[in-house]
Amino acid sequence: MSLKTVEWKDNAVVMIDQTKLPNVLEYVTFTDFNQVADAIRTLVVRGAPAIGVSGAFGLALAALQNNTSEKNELIEFLENAKKILFETRPTAVNLAWGLDKIMQVATDANTVDEIRKNVVETAKKMAEEDVQINMTMGKNGSELFNENDTIMTHCNAGALATVGYGTALGVIRATKDSGKNIKVIATETRPIQQGSRLTAFELKHDGIDVSLIPDTAVGYTMANNLVNKIVVGADRILRTGHVYNKIGTYQVATMAKQHNIPFYVAAPLSTFDMKNNPEDVVIEQRKASEVTGLGDKKTAPDDINVINPAFDMTPPELISGIITEKGIAKPPFEESIKKLF
Ligand code: MRU
Repeated sequence: MSLKTVEWKDNAVVMIDQTKLPNVLEYVTFTDFNQVADAIRTLVVRGAPAIGVSGAFGLALAALQNNTSEKNELIEFLENAKKILFETRPTAVNLAWGLDKIMQVATDANTVDEIRKNVVETAKKMAEEDVQINMTMGKNGSELFNENDTIMTHCNAGALATVGYGTALGVIRATKDSGKNIKVIATETRPIQQGSRLTAFELKHDGIDVSLIPDTAVGYTMANNLVNKIVVGADRILRTGHVYNKIGTYQVATMAKQHNIPFYVAAPLSTFDMKNNPEDVVIEQRKASEVTGLGDKKTAPDDINVINPAFDMTPPELISGIITEKGIAKPPFEESIKKLF
């Protein structure tokens, strides 16, 4: 059984504190939507599908926190809570997807009691569906992988980035469960080290053969035939097949093209943004201290200028296929993505 990242328990949101991994597996409990917003902002919970469901749970908490008997007042309170939750992280489209879905359920309800009941039920259902979707996606994607493949992944698109099972790591889990013998190479993923702290941790936890490499060894492992396929997750996919994912994904995809290695992306339909164009997507810029130090240790001179984008964009021409719960989209993506919807 893979880890349960976030869940609704006794009218509270319980999540793994991912900032403490891999050293401590600690769960935190929240009863205030502001705490959930802080948790998303500070990466206690991260990964596009996980923040989508956490946002939905946050809004459900907000509905329980406010005890007005007026529908209009409750909707106004929820709109404000939605804004606070939405502004925590700008790039992953799943957050807006989760919040919009809950807001719609709230506005459709007739009374405050109905709002409170329906938003909690919907958010819980979204969490359950997330695991089911990942399992279906995993099964679909497993057909692309063969006995004795060594698969590279970047960042963490695993159980810890979703409610459970994972997207890219869900594909890896399903491939292993189908009886194929596979190995995984996980990139460290500086500066937050989701690869070493989270991917290596959860694959080891599940008994999957994983080797950790520094990000700087991506070219070396490809040039020396140590990897023959790649699968990563996504924070946002445009209708054109432009994929936004953890910073460094573009480097991995470019290097894969150079070495003729198939590069796959695994993501649920809730990660697709069918409206916007590349120039509309905001890339989150994070604080300098993530780059100027390792833990408490300073590794750069004082007052150095830092550029610290959290995500980058991989263009469609570098992508071999996009794995979803509805099937695998292949190039040309503009056509194949349209068919998924
Ligand atoms: O900054 P993070 O850790 O939230 O970034 C996560 C990623 O980039 C993941 O690859 C992406 O969200 C897909 S998760 C299934």
